[in-house]
Amino acid sequence: MDRYETLIPRPVTARGEAGTFELTRDTALVAAPGAEDAADAVRLLLAPLRLPLRPASDGTGLVVRLDPAVGGPEAYHLRVTPDGVELSASSVDGIRHATQTLRQLLPDAAWRSAPPAGTRWLLPCGTVSDAPALAWRGGMLDVSRHFFGKHTVMRYVDLFAMHRLNRLHLHLTDDQGWRIESRRYPRLHEVASHRPTTQAWYERQDRTDGTPHGGYFTLDDLAEMSTYAADRGVTLVPEIDLPGHASALLAAYPELGVGAHTVRSGWGISEAVVKPVPATVRFLTDVLAELTDALPGSYVHLGGDECLLRDWTTDPDVTGYMNTLGITDPVDLFGHFLRELAGYLSSRGRRAVMWDEGYVGGGALPDTIVTAWRGDGGARRGGGAADDVGRWPVYPTYFDYDQSDGADEPLSIGGPVTLPDVTAFDPAPADWSDTERAHVIGVQFQAWSEYIPDARHLDYMVFPRACALAEVAWTGGATANFDARLAGHLGRLSAAGCGDRPPPKSERGRRRADGTPIARVRAHLEKLSAHADVPTSLVSM
Ligand code: ACM
Repeated sequence: MDRYETLIPRPVTARGEAGTFELTRDTALVAAPGAEDAADAVRLLLAPLRLPLRPASDGTGLVVRLDPAVGGPEAYHLRVTPDGVELSASSVDGIRHATQTLRQLLPDAAWRSAPPAGTRWLLPCGTVSDAPALAWRGGMLDVSRHFFGKHTVMRYVDLFAMHRLNRLHLHLTDDQGWRIESRRYPRLHEVASHRPTTQAWYERQDRTDGTPHGGYFTLDDLAEMSTYAADRGVTLVPEIDLPGHASALLAAYPELGVGAHTVRSGWGISEAVVKPVPATVRFLTDVLAELTDALPGSYVHLGGDECLLRDWTTDPDVTGYMNTLGITDPVDLFGHFLRELAGYLSSRGRRAVMWDEGYVGGGALPDTIVTAWRGDGGARRGGGAADDVGRWPVYPTYFDYDQSDGADEPLSIGGPVTLPDVTAFDPAPADWSDTERAHVIGVQFQAWSEYIPDARHLDYMVFPRACALAEVAWTGGATANFDARLAGHLGRLSAAGCGDRPPPKSERGRRRADGTPIARVRAHLEKLSAHADVPTSLVSM
């Protein structure tokens, strides 16, 4: 098969021609004037080829050019002739994308960290001219419900870069574990990062595995992962989920909430919510300062989803504070609290991101990115204001739902969300208004990990659906011949060590349960997101 027909995500144009060019130990890496950094990026991404790629400033070989005339910030051109290769883009990010495409044109061994003996790096001649439709192309790993360490995250950075995905969102805190070191508040990693056992069956809090689970990233781990990602054109987007989903935080620092809490071992929505009073905001801004010092990326997700505000109606600290502010509805206090944190992030040069309850609850600032998960209502309303909207609805971007309703699928929350469901996803549907469509900045998948215990299972749930999502994100939904191109892509995934199909077949007794059917979830969320306001309980499911 013509390798130019197997590229994923599908480029705007890709055309194979007769002839080949071979990258050898004699091939020079030629940086055109001003393209030295771009050539360094090429060298880093092609290191697994184990070629010297001798540096040169003119001549033929693998030529790298920065050219402002090449489209938008991530656009690129690639040309392979019998005499050499030329990569051109207006930015280093574009050159990185060109290099990933070049790597896909090479034999699958290019995705190993070292090639088998005798591998020849033959490239078919041809041209690619390419640019992404959407700026935010990403995926979320939930490292709270099950902790995946830095090596898994960095492997996902590689897999993201391979698919030209540029945002890796880490859901770092939730009821079941806080995964960030704090030098200022060490009980966060000492206490909040571990739980004694884990719920092991759908909707059965009483069925647990009896095994302690825990872990956290040190601030140095986060800085390391962030640099590793930036070198590959991927921005890490950390999330601290507030003010709800706070059991682990409150187990460590109960004075920030009401009553006693433990790091939860079961799933579902908890009533743990921080008190949104000035002492809590000071604590949280200290934590955000540590986090943003470690992570230079432009975005921090503040959560805002699925909050029960019951404690705010009864706690005298909170009701007294509401009186001081002249606020009578706890939802307005919810908005005030999120705006304070978003404002703090803004003072540190970061944009806040929040789930769509945060937006309808009044928590967004004008530059906040709203991540609409519940249904089209939230996504379209966000697009009616000044905000940027990330469209990641449960259907079809939640990859914790299983991929088929086959009996041998492993235990999951429900489903199915199939590969064709993902390829058919239209990020900005034609029947939306121009304004609504224009505000969609991108899409991402979500790998919530309640029922994803380890990295192998994670690979199974994420791939190959992430390949389809990457194609939707890159093309804006104009996927074509996806199945045929995927058939040519699976060898690359396998060489990269990504265990896609076949399934782990009920490992650890996790045979498929009758989770929640996706049609029921969709109908429920569409109903909720149709409302422009929210009740005191911000619970969504
Ligand atoms: C969410 O799924 N609670 C954002």
